[in-house]
Amino acid sequence: MDQMKVLLVGGGGREHAIAWKLRQSPRLGKLYVAPGNAGTAQIAENVPVKATDVEGLLAFALKEGIEFTIVGQDDPLALGIVDAFQAKGLKIFGPTQAAAQIEASKVFSKRLMKESGVPTTLFNVYTDHASALEEVRRHFAAYSGLPTVIKASGLALGKGAYVCHTLAEAEQALDEIMVKKLHGGAGDQVVIEEYAGGQEVSIHAFCDGKSFELFPSAQDHKPALDGDKGPNTGGMGTIAPVPWFNASDAVSEQIVGPILAGLQEKGSPFIGLLYPGLKMPETGPMVLEFNARFGDPETQVYMRLLKTDLLDIFEACVEGRLHEINVEWNPGFAACIVMASGGYPSPDYKKGFPITGIDNAEILPGIIVFHAGTKQADGKLVTSGGRVLGVTGVGATLQEALDHAYHGVECIRFEGMQYRKDIGAKSLV
Ligand SMILES: Nc1ncnc2c1ncn2[C@@H]1O[C@H](COP(=O)(O)OP(=O)(O)O)[C@@H](O)[C@H]1O
Ligand SMILES: [Mg+2]
Repeated sequence: MDQMKVLLVGGGGREHAIAWKLRQSPRLGKLYVAPGNAGTAQIAENVPVKATDVEGLLAFALKEGIEFTIVGQDDPLALGIVDAFQAKGLKIFGPTQAAAQIEASKVFSKRLMKESGVPTTLFNVYTDHASALEEVRRHFAAYSGLPTVIKASGLALGKGAYVCHTLAEAEQALDEIMVKKLHGGAGDQVVIEEYAGGQEVSIHAFCDGKSFELFPSAQDHKPALDGDKGPNTGGMGTIAPVPWFNASDAVSEQIVGPILAGLQEKGSPFIGLLYPGLKMPETGPMVLEFNARFGDPETQVYMRLLKTDLLDIFEACVEGRLHEINVEWNPGFAACIVMASGGYPSPDYKKGFPITGIDNAEILPGIIVFHAGTKQADGKLVTSGGRVLGVTGVGATLQEALDHAYHGVECIRFEGMQYRKDIGAKSLV
């Protein structure tokens, strides 16, 4: 069997989880991760090239004879890494720059949802501060009890969406986005949209430009503290599948199918991983946004549940023959608890603290620890980011998966560590 030389772009928990799963493929030869972390270094070769350095990555791929590339992160997609690799005849999993606009431009995405009949909240687009201000004043004068949602249109490191409960909050959001330009050019266009109630659910689908394959549902926990309190983070933990979620058919028929058809009609068929973020009000699923890559930490639970060879799936997507693959999932549940640096998500958290206990955690049944913000320094594993580790557990029931993951967490120590104690709790009934 011919083995493939593969490059994976990114360096978080998502990429460690993807690398871990790819390692199980008999068809995987040498695996490089750019830039990777201390976890990927144990199972692949890290390459010191930034995920946003498209030219550097292309030069590396050409020099090393990389046969297949997978993009984990959003910004290289928005920068056109897929177009650049394809222009050199290289195989790469991910959407083109044009198709990646579904994530990189909330204005593009909302307009396409509307045109394609995908259920989403009502919205308006603003480029001028005075008109946006007028709109939020009108909103709070008419419906003072209802929040409004303000979003910078472009990529803003997950900090560009503001759920505003009062006029003062809305005014401050507009000031940050449109006057202070905190998100730079990402705030040149602003979407102001209706607030949607209900729980959030993450959907993922492999797409080959024509057809798609839906994953089981997952649920992330964005707020930093127990009880969904505190500031929003990149995600503090996930479960999959979500036991009460029963809208997969509606998601396929009303959301994923129509948006892929809409992209195809625009001449930008979507190849890669499509990740709609949903709210679940009683009336049925509503799309908050589309992402054009795997979620993190969702991927950490998905890789624990995926049975089928991931490299086979990636290759089938790129070659437009996803229908030939029978994508299978293990029965049962998976949970991921994120262990973060003290102070995260505020940007002034401290790093460089030694991490101990991962080996003890991984001896326990059902546990794999994925690295996010870690590195080796003077022969020691130390913290190097806000989200440090994702401790994942699997089990026949959600409770069992959570128990496993939390037993793993209890083995691990680093100074200032913080994690949520209630991941999955709202789904345990
Ligand atoms: N229309 C909405 N109604 C209620 N909550 C929302 C709405 N849009 C976004 N949110 C909340 O804000 C978070 C971030 O918004 P999202 O559109 O996913 O932006 P991004 O992930 O790019 O920062 C969501 O996960 C959700 O909690
Ligand atoms: Mg989001």
